[in-house]
Amino acid sequence: MSAQPRRLRVAVVGTGGIVSGSHLTALRAHADRTELVAAVEIDPDRLEAFRGLAGGHVAGYTDLGGMLDAERPDLVLIGTPPSLHRDQTVAALKSGAWVLCEKPLCLSLAEYDDIAAAEQASGAYASAVFQHRYGSGAVHARELITSGELGAPLVAHCQTTWHRDSEYYAVPWRGRWATEGGGPTMGHGIHQYDLLLHLLGEWTEVRAMASRLVHDTESEDVSTALVRFANGALATVVNSVVSPHEVSRIRIDCANATVELTHLYGHSNDDWVYTAAPHIPAQRTASWRTPAADVPSSHAAQLGALLDAYEAGVRPPGSGTDARSTMEFAAALYKAAFTGAPVHAGEIVEGDPYYTAMHGNHPDWSPAR
Ligand SMILES: NC(=O)c1ccc[n+]([C@@H]2O[C@H](COP(=O)([O-])OP(=O)(O)OC[C@H]3O[C@@H](n4cnc5c(N)ncnc54)[C@H](O)[C@@H]3O)[C@@H](O)[C@H]2O)c1
Repeated sequence: MSAQPRRLRVAVVGTGGIVSGSHLTALRAHADRTELVAAVEIDPDRLEAFRGLAGGHVAGYTDLGGMLDAERPDLVLIGTPPSLHRDQTVAALKSGAWVLCEKPLCLSLAEYDDIAAAEQASGAYASAVFQHRYGSGAVHARELITSGELGAPLVAHCQTTWHRDSEYYAVPWRGRWATEGGGPTMGHGIHQYDLLLHLLGEWTEVRAMASRLVHDTESEDVSTALVRFANGALATVVNSVVSPHEVSRIRIDCANATVELTHLYGHSNDDWVYTAAPHIPAQRTASWRTPAADVPSSHAAQLGALLDAYEAGVRPPGSGTDARSTMEFAAALYKAAFTGAPVHAGEIVEGDPYYTAMHGNHPDWSPAR
């Protein structure tokens, strides 16, 4: 009988909404490959509530460094407010642990490059949570697009039209450049345009606008962008938290078919619709609609992909250039919106104000409407 691979020793950092919900569910879904050994949380009541919820023997800590020294976990899941992500990710990497950190992975390209340097020094990897890449519908659509089955991608729409009220923005870290890193561009729409980039590949140029229409925040509450991809496709991107009818949508018109994803916070196979171009015979379209399995997009699906990579000793999806490209797109969108000029991939480098902050050293970028 072959020996089972040992379970990875996992720690979570920040036991608020996302960790107590999606991360804990993901760990339970992979209980045969992971063992939750520790939780770090600065709020003692939340920490105790989480330990009760998690069950088993989860050691509690209020300090990340102390936990890393004492527990030496293999994998650290980070779900703290965004301004803490870079330092906590770097600390975990330095201890030798792999990291799966909530989006946004960090607040700027400069912060991302610190994480990349820590990866290189440690040999460990850090991935950003973008769970929508990992559902079977997205995996299947990407295969169809990248294999050429759907023909050349031509036109795309990427829409995150969500609604957030003033109570949501009463949480102190939200809506502030220093703590959230931006508005719906960094916090909400980032899921959808990350998936768009995953499906369409390298982007080359962004033009954009941003505005603060409703909320009393430092950052925008709406942004819109026009994007050109290396394969020639053109796309529009909308990121909004002021939209009463909420929807998350991606539509890509390729030469042979239109593929459309319509959902809100997660998708399964039925949320993907394929419409063939008139010249495509019906029998060819049958395979488009039927991925082999129906895996909803979820933290569990992404954690599974990361565990596969850990066991194989290879870079996990959602790390490295995958993670940097999405961060660079966010920086380009802000730079294009605040300067009014087109921004090209690769132009935001050290010395550019948008390398170190999404507001490009202009936190007071625009008066409220
Ligand atoms: N992937 C998704 O779909 C998704 C959904 C919601 C939130 N998020 C992301 O998850 C992150 C957390 O969001 P949330 O809604 O769970 O926030 P939250 O405020 O509910 O939880 C954050 C927790 O971190 C704790 N914390 C703060 N400083 C800490 C420190 N130094 N060490 C340890 N713990 C600390 C807080 O006390 C709090 O319990 C954000 O980056 C957010 O963008 C992702």
